[in-house]
Amino acid sequence: MDWIEKEKNLIVPVYKRKEVIFERGEGCYLYDIHGKRYLDLVSGIACVAIGHSHPEFVEKVYSQLKKLVQVSNLYYTIPQIILAEKLKKITGMDKFFFCNSGTEAVEASLKFARKATGKKKFVAFTNGFHGRTMGALSVTYKEKFRKPFEPLVQPVEFAKFNDASDLEKKVDENTAAVILELIQGEAGVYPASEEFVKTIFELKEEYGYLVIVDEVQTGFGRTGKWFAKEHYDVEPDIIAMAKAMGSGFPIGCSAVTEEVAEKLEKGDHGSTFGGNPLACAASIATIEIIEKYKLVENSEKMGKYFMERLGEMFSEVRGKGLMIGVKVPNAEEIVKKGLEQGVVLNATSEDNLRLVPPLIIRKEDIDLAVEVLAKILR
Ligand SMILES: Cc1ncc(COP(=O)(O)O)c(C=O)c1O
Repeated sequence: MDWIEKEKNLIVPVYKRKEVIFERGEGCYLYDIHGKRYLDLVSGIACVAIGHSHPEFVEKVYSQLKKLVQVSNLYYTIPQIILAEKLKKITGMDKFFFCNSGTEAVEASLKFARKATGKKKFVAFTNGFHGRTMGALSVTYKEKFRKPFEPLVQPVEFAKFNDASDLEKKVDENTAAVILELIQGEAGVYPASEEFVKTIFELKEEYGYLVIVDEVQTGFGRTGKWFAKEHYDVEPDIIAMAKAMGSGFPIGCSAVTEEVAEKLEKGDHGSTFGGNPLACAASIATIEIIEKYKLVENSEKMGKYFMERLGEMFSEVRGKGLMIGVKVPNAEEIVKKGLEQGVVLNATSEDNLRLVPPLIIRKEDIDLAVEVLAKILR
């Protein structure tokens, strides 16, 4: 059976896929339909934090699956409340809205910011990525993604990332929120400078806008802290999260302060699937496993080791924890050869690789990755 040929007649052509069909995963490794093993340095795009098919995750999700999957938000369910309690501890935020993906988390965050401030304008940043639905797309920088779908949500202004003086020109008293990734992920792993983040929060005091931090990619230990905001010592008004929240199981969340929550009323937003018991069980299990096996600490430690090893080979290595960007010659060629050699890599541009392995990665896996990269470059 030629599955790839068959797919061409069935799936809308919006994805550019690599020539491989994955069938199963275990820990940091994926297996294709021919049984070939690959070291996974992509994790389903920074999702599979605890590794593939973690036995404790499987058990906990299965146990919820047998009990109850979905009743909608017309009723109370306990896993949603337990998850909110856990999130409160690890984020320091007050109240939580559950959804199913990153773009939905951003969508909810934008709506909440407008409702809470009564203002309309959003300020986002060059090279930022926040998702593909109409609201999230409106604050996503890449014109190629936005242009065909205009008119989008307005007014939106883009300020230069890491340029405080440009930001000062773009924000005003009509600004509902500034939205940013503290470490830009889709752009290729570019951290915001501390000075820049400080200015965002200083100007917030002056103009009274909210700060939405998009931690969809940086959350849940990816950067060597539970959330990237801890690197900057800032407290946002709203945090959007998803990806690693369920270690691959679809779930997202917009976390808000009490001040924002106070302005929200019944009917302001909603989701049929959002916070369903199964997704919440997956997220609870993810958080418990991250805690139990100290994966935030492992992310910091292994991230340092990975960056050091990459620094022996490449002149530009950026990032924090296990969110790493590397400047390379011909990224697509390296990705192709990586697959041939059994390492799954991701190129974010012609000359950049983004490495976001599962947070359970060990030294020997990193050594294997480095060995394969060295071989490819030879
Ligand atoms: C920072 C950020 N925000 C939002 C999104 C959108 O998430 P999703 O693809 O789950 O809708 C992404 C996806 O890559 C992201 O990296």
